[in-house]
Amino acid sequence: MISKFMAPEIIFGDHSIQQTGESFLRLGAQRVLVVSDPGVKEAGWTAEAVESIQTSGLDYHLFSNISTNPDTAQVAEGAAAYHKARCDAVLGIGGGSALDVAKAVAVIVSNGGKIENYEGVDHIHSPLPPVIMVPTTAGSGSEVSQFSIIVDPARKKKMTIVSKSLVPDIAIVDPFVLMTKDHLLTAATGLDAITHGIEAYVSAAATPLTDVQAVNAMKLAAEFLRPSVASHTNVEAKRAMAMASMQAGLAFSNAILGAVHAMSHAIGGRYALPHGEINSILLPHVMEFNLIASPSRFAAIGDIFGASAGGEEMVRARHGIQAVRALADDIGAPKTLHSVGLRDPDFESMARIALEDACMITNPRDVALKDIEMLFKKAYE
Ligand SMILES: [Fe+2]
Repeated sequence: MISKFMAPEIIFGDHSIQQTGESFLRLGAQRVLVVSDPGVKEAGWTAEAVESIQTSGLDYHLFSNISTNPDTAQVAEGAAAYHKARCDAVLGIGGGSALDVAKAVAVIVSNGGKIENYEGVDHIHSPLPPVIMVPTTAGSGSEVSQFSIIVDPARKKKMTIVSKSLVPDIAIVDPFVLMTKDHLLTAATGLDAITHGIEAYVSAAATPLTDVQAVNAMKLAAEFLRPSVASHTNVEAKRAMAMASMQAGLAFSNAILGAVHAMSHAIGGRYALPHGEINSILLPHVMEFNLIASPSRFAAIGDIFGASAGGEEMVRARHGIQAVRALADDIGAPKTLHSVGLRDPDFESMARIALEDACMITNPRDVALKDIEMLFKKAYE
């Protein structure tokens, strides 16, 4: 069996955000398009990165029109800003939304056309300008991944764009930036990271190289997500969750994901809800469905999340699902799609979209349309 593993250069550690300017200098950049979101700007992290860029003698232009589930129009606007300001490099600083827009902008300015043209796997052919990512949430893993997720409002769907070109040149992961996040965002993004770890670990495309990342990410999140949600100043928990999120990102970037993300993207294209919250509602139902595909792997997940007192594989595996549910409950995650605002949802058409999502290809159990509808219905009530 042949396996490939893609990863960017990674700079990890306290106050590493201050290395942003020097990193761009090393990549030969002169004028950086800074793609950020309003919340991160307000918290002061965008200014800190900009200061580092200026200290290194480089110029910048700020683009911060980013929403929770960014769409094709925002990407086009960002690309126009890049050209107008004559930039030659891109910084994404923020949560998954800002990072995914930054990647999509880099695609358009170097490959032309619209971002819709690049949906799916491996449709990007020209090299991107230098790209650096500074994540400010511990969840998306976008700073190390070959994914960008953008909403296409015309088709009411989240497009999954996958290409090794989307792996940034440098990921700068600074745990200190996590300390300005409230407990809701910490919980939702942490649950996204856990979902990445679990889906990558049971993925049909998992390899020894992705397993080591997924297992460590799950172990760290199992121990530190609760304390991280409990206190925004717990540095030890922030360091652990920054590492967990990044390692889960390395795992899913290379092993891809599964039915949770395929279904979550279908919901996210219609409802402006936090991605991590939707995932955590869907996750236990999909785990139950996928269980028979890999009892030993689900048993290992049970051991990691600390629920099992030994026993047979299927027993340990089922305990694991309960333990993941308990973790989500402890940090206040919503339990049903109804409770987060879905009303009379058209599950049949969402199931069709989910079935076509690139993330569904690596789900460990074969999935039919009726299975997805059944899982949506279970997660609704
Ligand atoms: Fe995700």
